[in-house]
Amino acid sequence: MTMSITPPLKTPMRFYSLPNDLCWCKSGLKYKRCHKESDSRELREERKRNEPHRVMPGKLSPKRTVPPHIAAPDYAQSGRPGKGSGKTLLNTEELQRLRKACQAAAEVLKITSQAIRPGITTDALDGIAHEAMLQRGGYPSTLNYRGFPKSICTSANEIICHGIPDSRPLQDGDILNIDVTIFLEGMHGDTNATFAVGNIDEKSQNLIRTTHEALWKGIGAVKPGLPLRVIGQAIQAYATAKGMGVVRDYCGHGIGDVFQTGLQIPHLDDPSATTLITPGMTFTIEPMITLGSPHAEHWNDGWTAVTEDLARTAQFEHTILVTEQGAEVLTLGPNNSAEDKPSV
Ligand code: MF3
Ligand code: CO
Ligand code: CO
Repeated sequence: MTMSITPPLKTPMRFYSLPNDLCWCKSGLKYKRCHKESDSRELREERKRNEPHRVMPGKLSPKRTVPPHIAAPDYAQSGRPGKGSGKTLLNTEELQRLRKACQAAAEVLKITSQAIRPGITTDALDGIAHEAMLQRGGYPSTLNYRGFPKSICTSANEIICHGIPDSRPLQDGDILNIDVTIFLEGMHGDTNATFAVGNIDEKSQNLIRTTHEALWKGIGAVKPGLPLRVIGQAIQAYATAKGMGVVRDYCGHGIGDVFQTGLQIPHLDDPSATTLITPGMTFTIEPMITLGSPHAEHWNDGWTAVTEDLARTAQFEHTILVTEQGAEVLTLGPNNSAEDKPSV
């Protein structure tokens, strides 16, 4: 979900500072009087280096259809989501339905990712995910959500998130994020992961590993009674220690009978995230980590967010339920196994 406010930054980072922030080099000067100019030169050079791998927009296939026996969310026709029940805590019966949706989302993500190979188009992956969701009796939540045209998001290489599946064939050496959200029995389950296409370089492997670990650092920080802020603090500390950037413009979100509730989960340290973590809350954590600049630019399709320097970026996402102990991850793989948990 899009961040509606821009929090002040505690630690100015390279390529990250605003003109009047103190420079990241700790000179004590304002950024605009110090490294701003040389950073923008470096940004331009980095952009040129990455240009050969740049993802370009392809063609969209016709809109996929959903049979009438599958219950669709309120926005399926209009593109405009309503407020839902407005309830933030689910009862036992509602939770049971959310668990089912989350489980189905994990299954669909797994099935779709197994089809990844050089040469397959992201549109073909969209078709596989679409059918797998229908088979489970679910509606692909992204289809016409605020006008989004496809059933999943596919974000390759420098695409941060919200990539639209199209005619571009995957290439050996690409990295690809697949984001699956299913609306099943009145609840949305949301999960994503980043995968290698064929053989990828070591930097990309590192990026994927670190992003996955950063998600689990965020999950590990969830403790009832603490402010939501601790989640972003844990993610930011982990990623920046590895020299990577954290995207600020998109955050996690409350979820349930509404795809994205008003609850925002920042992935960076945000002093304004003072809401207390409470048992029964259901939300996503979905950090986007970059090898270069964490700043986003957008394609003119109105959706696709890319890094401004075209450096690669990865993302992982789980839907979680806050318990008395911490977080229960609802979108673990089919056997609810520990296979998704990294060792650090
Ligand atoms: N699943 C995405 C998320 O994790 C949201 C996609 S919204 C869409 O928040 F409109 F882009 F599909
Ligand atoms: Co999400
Ligand atoms: Co998602």
